[in-house]
Amino acid sequence: MSIPFATLPKVSLHCHLTGSVLPGTVLELARKHGVPAPDGRGAHDLYDIDSHEDLDEFLRVYDLVGRVMRDADDFRRTTYESLTTLGAEHGVLYREIFVSPPSHPGVAYRTILDGVRAGMREAKADTGIDSRIIMAINREDTPAAAFDLVEQVIAHRCDEVVGIGLDYAEIHGPPGLFHEAFARAGRAGLRRTAHSESGPPGNLAILLDVLGCTRVDHGYHVVDDPDMTARCLDAGIVFTCTPVSSDIGRYSGSGNGKHEKIAAMVEAGLRVTIDSDDPPMFGTDPTNDFRILHEALGYDTEQLLAFTRTAVDGCWLDESDKAALR
Ligand code: ADE
Ligand code: ZN
Repeated sequence: MSIPFATLPKVSLHCHLTGSVLPGTVLELARKHGVPAPDGRGAHDLYDIDSHEDLDEFLRVYDLVGRVMRDADDFRRTTYESLTTLGAEHGVLYREIFVSPPSHPGVAYRTILDGVRAGMREAKADTGIDSRIIMAINREDTPAAAFDLVEQVIAHRCDEVVGIGLDYAEIHGPPGLFHEAFARAGRAGLRRTAHSESGPPGNLAILLDVLGCTRVDHGYHVVDDPDMTARCLDAGIVFTCTPVSSDIGRYSGSGNGKHEKIAAMVEAGLRVTIDSDDPPMFGTDPTNDFRILHEALGYDTEQLLAFTRTAVDGCWLDESDKAALR
């Protein structure tokens, strides 16, 4: 029996706004602001993932896209497209979207926040998709810049922003550097997650012990360490896995289409959710990531729906709002 991948309900906990910008939108925004089309290439070439050697190269493209997002309407539009074209149209009921103010140099935090919130409201009115924001620290920036970002989040506190994240290349920004920013966020009642994809594996302990994370983005190394696996099982840590982006990106030590780490995490009973990370940039979308896991690992409808249930349980909505997703 064929599985209706596109209409299976999904809850999205690992998707970046900058990584969601559709290729045509990149070109239109570049034109609008008089920014030369990134790299002089068409956006389709820009998103040609085979041309990226590693995460660093990918992130430089990501930065180019961030630089064409300049006014509140750009943030409204790109948020709307992420939540509709790359969300509701794929059965996504709810998304916690990563927004990275440091990827938009020279743009005021308030401009970003107001634009994103407008896009969220419009998407909800048009499709019913609900959403919240996770403000993401760029770990290639200084700890002081990270702390300042958290201060901004707190100064402009609103219901839509439910937590903070930590992304960009792990190798250039060990998580422990950001302990003060994360502690400040924790004291203010913000939830915390962080990317840990390329390792080293010891970073997982820092995320839990020092940063106070209750979720880990990717986190594939967990299955290399039985003690850490047991700890995460015990603590109910939620792992937001991204099959296609991690496989194409070759950051999870796989790159062979077999998704062995995700299989091992599921087998171990860890709380795993599935998402697309930077969908157009990795040539994927929520439907495709579900389909890929079915094809590679034989996951059936029941297992795919279990990922959604885990995401509902592990999301950062209040219990009453979660109930509406069940
Ligand atoms: N920011 C957006 N996508 C990312 C990824 N795959 N790894 C680290 N930081 C990111
Ligand atoms: Zn990510």
